[in-house]
Amino acid sequence: MKIVAVYSTKGGAGKTSAAVNLAWEASRSGAVLLWDLDAQGASTYLTGVKPKLKGGVAKLVKGSNTISDVVREAAFPRPEGHHRIDVVPADDSYRELELMLDSVKGSRRRLEKALKDASGTYDTVILDCPPGASLVAENAVRSADVIVTPVAPAALSLRSLEQVRGVVADSAKPAPILAFLSMVDRRKLSHRRAVEDLPVEHKEIVDVVVPASVVVERMGSERAPVAAFAPRHQVALAYTDLWALVVKAA
Ligand SMILES: Nc1ncnc2c1ncn2[C@@H]1O[C@H](COP(=O)(O)OP(=O)(O)OP(=O)(O)O)[C@@H](O)[C@H]1O
Ligand SMILES: [Mg+2]
Repeated sequence: MKIVAVYSTKGGAGKTSAAVNLAWEASRSGAVLLWDLDAQGASTYLTGVKPKLKGGVAKLVKGSNTISDVVREAAFPRPEGHHRIDVVPADDSYRELELMLDSVKGSRRRLEKALKDASGTYDTVILDCPPGASLVAENAVRSADVIVTPVAPAALSLRSLEQVRGVVADSAKPAPILAFLSMVDRRKLSHRRAVEDLPVEHKEIVDVVVPASVVVERMGSERAPVAAFAPRHQVALAYTDLWALVVKAA
């Protein structure tokens, strides 16, 4: 079982969009668990899952509930050849997660522990992390085999890549970072420059570019990954390419 944390300290960078689309890519080759770690519940929403975590997140993190007790299958249709995508939904109980983690022993290893008993069931786990450098993020980073970081072509995003490096370096088990440019608008000179220069200047930034497109926003009305309703769209193909690199890095 490979664990992929989609993480950036920056909000609105494209984490959830990547998490849901990568879950779809991963489901081509095995069973997937997508864990929505953000109280906003965006990946819960985009996968059409009810925003209700049985027993609340505290029971899951403390070990009195297991992942199999709380998962719900993603609601979009599963095409032939795809394996199932199960979702650990986020609900209001997540608002207390940070404080709760802070109050328990082994507060940085709780996610890793909860994931242990899922290892016979899933081939891939995708963690959709909240923004910021929190205990939740530290837990995700600690359990991950690879950290996937969306980087919008703007100075602030590079600053957050630097912060991600810091969080990963402080982890007891630093995993490789795979960063990619997201929301790229090639009509803008600064974006075209970023696509040329950033992968050269930053060793973590790979050559996959996810273009800015309304098709990503359509995920909200379709409640499905892009490839489920626009399989030949450039965005869908970009996530396929990204997934191939994630597999190599993990
Ligand atoms: N490639 C893209 N093109 C156009 N819009 C995009 C693209 N990627 C993401 N978006 C839009 O930008 C917004 C933020 O994206 P997303 O939710 O994936 O980011 P996030 O990093 O998970 O945000 P948060 O930090 O709030 O969890 C969403 O409305 C999404 O539809
Ligand atoms: Mg998100």
